[in-house]
Order: sequence, then C-alpha cells, then structure tokens
Amino acid sequence: MDKYQAWVEEVIGKIREKMDWVSEKNKDKIPYTTDDSGCYDDRGDMTKEWSVDNGLNWWTNGFFGGMMWLMYQDTGEQKYADIARISEYRLEQCLADFYGLHHDVGFMFQPTCVADYRLTGNERSRKNALHAAVLLAGRFNPEGQFIRAWNDLSGDDTRGWAIIDCMFNLSLLYWASEETKDPRFRHIAVKHADTVMKYFVRPDGSVNHIVEFDPQTGEMLRSLGGQGYCEGSSWTRGQGWAVYGFMISYFHTGKEEYLITAKKIAHYCMAALDESGIVPVDFRQPKEPAWEDSCGACVIAGGLLEVAKAVPEQEKEMYRQAAFRILDAIYRTRSDWSRDCDAIVRNCSGSYHNPEHHVTMVYADYFFMEAVYKLMGNTGLLW
Ligand code: GLY
Repeated sequence: MDKYQAWVEEVIGKIREKMDWVSEKNKDKIPYTTDDSGCYDDRGDMTKEWSVDNGLNWWTNGFFGGMMWLMYQDTGEQKYADIARISEYRLEQCLADFYGLHHDVGFMFQPTCVADYRLTGNERSRKNALHAAVLLAGRFNPEGQFIRAWNDLSGDDTRGWAIIDCMFNLSLLYWASEETKDPRFRHIAVKHADTVMKYFVRPDGSVNHIVEFDPQTGEMLRSLGGQGYCEGSSWTRGQGWAVYGFMISYFHTGKEEYLITAKKIAHYCMAALDESGIVPVDFRQPKEPAWEDSCGACVIAGGLLEVAKAVPEQEKEMYRQAAFRILDAIYRTRSDWSRDCDAIVRNCSGSYHNPEHHVTMVYADYFFMEAVYKLMGNTGLLW
C-alpha cells in the first residue's frame, strides 16, 4: 500500500463532501475569493465596476470550472460537467469583446474549454480554445522571442514585459498544435520557454517574476520584483509557476533541458522549504511579518509531483515527500471543511505588497485538489 494512500483517501473524501454542496450553491458564479460571510464572490458580475483587465477577463476565471472538471473526472457525475459549462460559456463573452484579454487566456481556457473538449469532445469548447490559442500566439514578439504578458497597466508601458506565470499559458499552445497538427503554436511556446530559461531562471534555481525586453530590438533591459518582495527576491508562487511550467513544457516536447531546469528550480524550492511545510509569499522576505501564500504552496507541490513522474524510481520519493509535506501542512492547518466558508484553502496572498493577506483564493483550492488527485495516482495532465 502506498504510504500516502490513507491520507489521500481521507482528504478526497472531504473534497467530495465539500464540492457536492459548494458546486450547487455557486453554480452560476465565477468565484475569485470569499466575502466576510464566507460566500464566494462572482467576478463575472456585470453589474459591478470591474476594470477592463478585471471582471470577466480576470485571469483566475477558469479555475472554478477546472475544479468542476476535476470532480467530474473523479466521480463521473454529470452535474459537475453541467456546472463547469456555465462558467465556461460565460467566458465566451471575453473572446467576443477582445479588449482586456491578456496572456492569461491559458489559465482561463485550459481548465474550462480544453478540459471539456478532452473529457467530452465538446466541439464548442474546441472552437473557443483554438480561438484563445490564436490570441495568445498573437502576443508573441519575434524580437526577444517572448510572449507579452499584460496590457498597459496603471501607467506602466508593458509592451516588453514577460512574466514567469506565462509558463502555464504555454499549455494552450501545445494543445493547439497537438489538436490541429499545425506546429506554429508549439514553435512559439518553445521559443518563449527557451527565453524564460535564459533570462528568468537564475543559477541557484530561484526565478525572476518579471523581465522587461526592448519591444523593438528584443534586448533584455531589466528584471522586476513584481508580486514578490523586491527585485532579486524569490516570489514563491512564481517558483511554483516555474517548476510546474517547465515540466509542462518537458512533457509536451521531451526536451531534456526543460526537465533539468525544472529539477534545478525544484531543488531550490525544497532547500528553501522549512520543516513546517508552510510557504511564505517570498522565500527571501523578512522574517516578520510572516506573510504566507498557500496558493504558491499548492502550485509548488503540484510541480514537485510532476517532477516525480519524470525521474528514475529511486529519485521519485524525494519529490513526493516534499510535496506531501506542503499538502499535509495545508490540510492540517490551513484548510476549512466546514459549511461556514465556500473555499477550502486559507492564508493566500495575491502578492507581497498587496495590503490584503491571508485570504481565500479559488485557484488555491484548484491546485490543492489537483495535487491531491496527483498523489492519488491520477496521472492525467490537465495542462
Ligand atoms: N498569474 C498571476 C498570479 O499568480 O498572481
């Protein structure tokens, strides 16, 4: 018997119980976080004054649908597919409106449309996912060979900005090439991943969050601390996007350098992780205040479990053990299984300098659930 099996069975039992009512209670919403009474908000609420990069275009809007597809995969219950499609079809409006979309179409459309198409063959999902992939490919700058991340934000000129998070968005490009047999999408993904390997990953396995290139010449200009503590620091969620992201590129391309890079980042993370398994917002933040990011924790755990799949038998346990330490810490000390709160995972932080800390975030729940299913032996790669 796998040493994690009893733990996994216990946690999956709780996930099934919680998702059963959370799904139905929130079926018409696209949640991001919970309010003071523990109820999920709705980022797709058109009556609210969200900004153009926010609201229905918000980068996390695919995760509630993704959670529903995880549940559908697990239980086979049709209600989860039906609920997943409510948010999936609401996101079609973003494609029609176009303005306000960004590189995070991968995060939005992979766990919704691509998941739906892979699991059910839904043609409407395939069309929307391909549309999103074309938009993502259109953000590639051949000078500098990077995918532009955001649109101009609060006065910053972001034409030359690429961010580590985009390693996840590449999934949509790999999928589009695999689906259409047109290699253009994959070429763009590989060129972007190679750029990230060169300019984002430091020799010790820590990573930059943002790198700015000259959008005319492609010259690398500077790195920025972004959502981490400062320039040169080590934003934990970015470390997670990097380790897991390079594994996604490795599985889709077989390029050995991506596995080596993912392992380097993984070893940095494992060395930075303390015994408690609790993950700070930034591995290089001051001791106090001790801000945490449970979402970063779950993404790192998911990445370590992907590395474990790719290494020889005798190396696997080291990565699984580190992932388990993180997931067990979340389960024992940072999760809520009651009916008082729609979310599961507590103590998430959007960024180090955001005044709001230790809130719930829907994608922490997604990545926690996904990692637990991986530990169970569910080898399907949603990304
Ligand atoms: N992709 C943005 C974030 O991790 O906050």
